[in-house]
Amino acid sequence: MKTQVAIVGAGPAGLLLSHLLDQLGIESVIIENKSRDYIEARIRAGVLETQSVDLLVETGLGDRLKKEGLEHHGIYLQTPGERVHINFNELIGKTVWVYGQTEVTKDLNQARDKAGQVIYYSASEVALSGIESSNPSVSFLDVDGNPQVVEALYIAGCDGFHGISRASIPSQTIVTYERNYNFGWLGVMADVAPSTDELIYAWHPNGFAMHSMRSKTRSRLYLQVDPDEDIKNWSDDRIWTELSQRMHVEGWHLQSGPIIEKGITPMRSFVSTPMRYGNLFLAGDAAHIVPPTGAKGLNLAIADVKVLSTALARALHFKDTSLIDSYSETALARVWRSTYFSSWMTSMLHTSGNGDPFDDQLQSAQIKAVVSSPSAMAALAENYVGIPFASQS
Ligand code: APR
Ligand code: PHB
Repeated sequence: MKTQVAIVGAGPAGLLLSHLLDQLGIESVIIENKSRDYIEARIRAGVLETQSVDLLVETGLGDRLKKEGLEHHGIYLQTPGERVHINFNELIGKTVWVYGQTEVTKDLNQARDKAGQVIYYSASEVALSGIESSNPSVSFLDVDGNPQVVEALYIAGCDGFHGISRASIPSQTIVTYERNYNFGWLGVMADVAPSTDELIYAWHPNGFAMHSMRSKTRSRLYLQVDPDEDIKNWSDDRIWTELSQRMHVEGWHLQSGPIIEKGITPMRSFVSTPMRYGNLFLAGDAAHIVPPTGAKGLNLAIADVKVLSTALARALHFKDTSLIDSYSETALARVWRSTYFSSWMTSMLHTSGNGDPFDDQLQSAQIKAVVSSPSAMAALAENYVGIPFASQS
């Protein structure tokens, strides 16, 4: 099979890239090693930046988002007993939307169905060849075990952190940057109406806690825990008690309810550079990982593929390679800004775990400094709602 762009991975990066390319008159084929059901069910991020929303709306993916998504005007930042609202809308005239990645993925899959898109789900033994040449290809076994080869002009590696795309690049040509944090997030999904109108990010000496949501009847909550903590040690009762304690403020009550899913994820920052090798372009988690504090992962994937789709279109329609040549530099400028922001939010809000009360006092003072200064709050807001797709600054 021949196509213009072969896309490895049907997460948000791969699916959206294919959708954007389609709208620019470019053919693509997606190869994904998991099933569609699995991808549409896995629980991931939930906050969309202003321009992510604008892009989805402009490209015909906004109907359900605008109906079922929740527009948020800001966030709460909290130190023990003191919760302060940072109003993005008042500070910088922008908002974000709470709409689960799971829902974005479903909308994208539906759009791909409508367009008659070829997506090979449940592929195995996926391998890339000729990525340095002008006719790279992806080989794999399809769901029935039949060997397949997709020949393309370009390959987009959208196959996440554990994918094969980044691993196919000779290691001596890449430089990676990594930070592992000595804590993880215990995340729960609960069938209960959120106890808050906006997301709560709470610093507490027992560790960070957070209240997010997915809809008017479903809450998403997180607790800082040791990365190697065993989920078996966390009964539902213990989770609700700890959340209530860490997010306590006078006169506010955390409504508990049935927990339908819980799990622990480690946190890391990771950037692999450059994001191109020959005719292979990396996008999304394949090239970078951010800790979830600040909700940048999904939005970075969206920003990468927006820039990449424009660059590929220029190359394929006009034989002008200037934008694909600058893709890595353009994407990385934004990646590093988001890496900085999520790392800053993470270090400000999580206890270091070394039991040093001096650190606790510094963190508490830092949060108070942010929430008492309109310009500091505006700087947080600018980063949270998202910097422009192709920012070089
Ligand atoms: N062959 C084909 N597909 C693969 C392979 C492989 N060898 N390895 C992984 N994949 C698939 C995964 O199954 C997954 O569906 O690639 C997809 C990558 O999707 P994501 O991990 O969701 O990554 P991405 O699309 O970059 O989305 C950005 O940022 O904040 C996070 O949770 C957010 O997942 C989101 C991510
Ligand atoms: C989520 O809803 O899952 C979420 C929201 C904001 C974050 C991280 C996760 O910073």
